[in-house]
Amino acid sequence: MSDLRLVELSTENLPAVIGLPPAIGEKAYVAPVLHSIAEAYVTPTAWPRVILDGDEVVGFVMANWDAENEIPEFRSGIWRLNVADEAKGRGVGRFAVQQVAEEARRRGFEQITVLWEPAADGPEGFYLAVGFEKAGELFGETVGVMRV
Ligand SMILES: CC(C)(COP(=O)(O)OP(=O)(O)OC[C@H]1O[C@@H](n2cnc3c(N)ncnc32)[C@H](O)[C@@H]1OP(=O)(O)O)[C@@H](O)C(=O)NCCC(=O)NCCS
Repeated sequence: MSDLRLVELSTENLPAVIGLPPAIGEKAYVAPVLHSIAEAYVTPTAWPRVILDGDEVVGFVMANWDAENEIPEFRSGIWRLNVADEAKGRGVGRFAVQQVAEEARRRGFEQITVLWEPAADGPEGFYLAVGFEKAGELFGETVGVMRV
């Protein structure tokens, strides 16, 4: 049985969080978590959260809440999502999306967005399975939108 929750980054969970895939230099559809944490450090609107199952780190999700952003797709949505290899396929990603949607509602947003690379082995199937709908392209990536 899983006991999923989101927590903030801490000195305790940091080593496991930066160990999530992909490794630095590995080719992937999402950036290494270390890169995302560095971006969060210099981006006041970033919302990085660790996904725990009980006390075990099973993933990392980073949203961005920036209602004034000149690019509408960047005002409220998922910026990064990384699930541990051994935790894939058991609802961790879906849980993270639901939590971001809930946080968006709390903050008064009506939708969340996500961008993904349009590749056959990319995360498109996941995002469509959890409720996003395709809404065009931006910078060569597919835009997904979900009403919250
Ligand atoms: C994509 C990713 C976040 C999915 O997380 P996950 O925890 O394995 O997904 P879940 O178990 O919550 O799956 C939710 C649903 O999506 C489906 N799904 C998951 N990955 C899928 C894929 N690659 N293609 C099609 N469907 C997929 C599941 O079957 C499930 O559907 P169901 O509930 O109807 O059975 C995870 O595999 C991952 O970290 N991938 C590498 C990094 C990445 O691509 N991140 C996103 C970049 S923005």
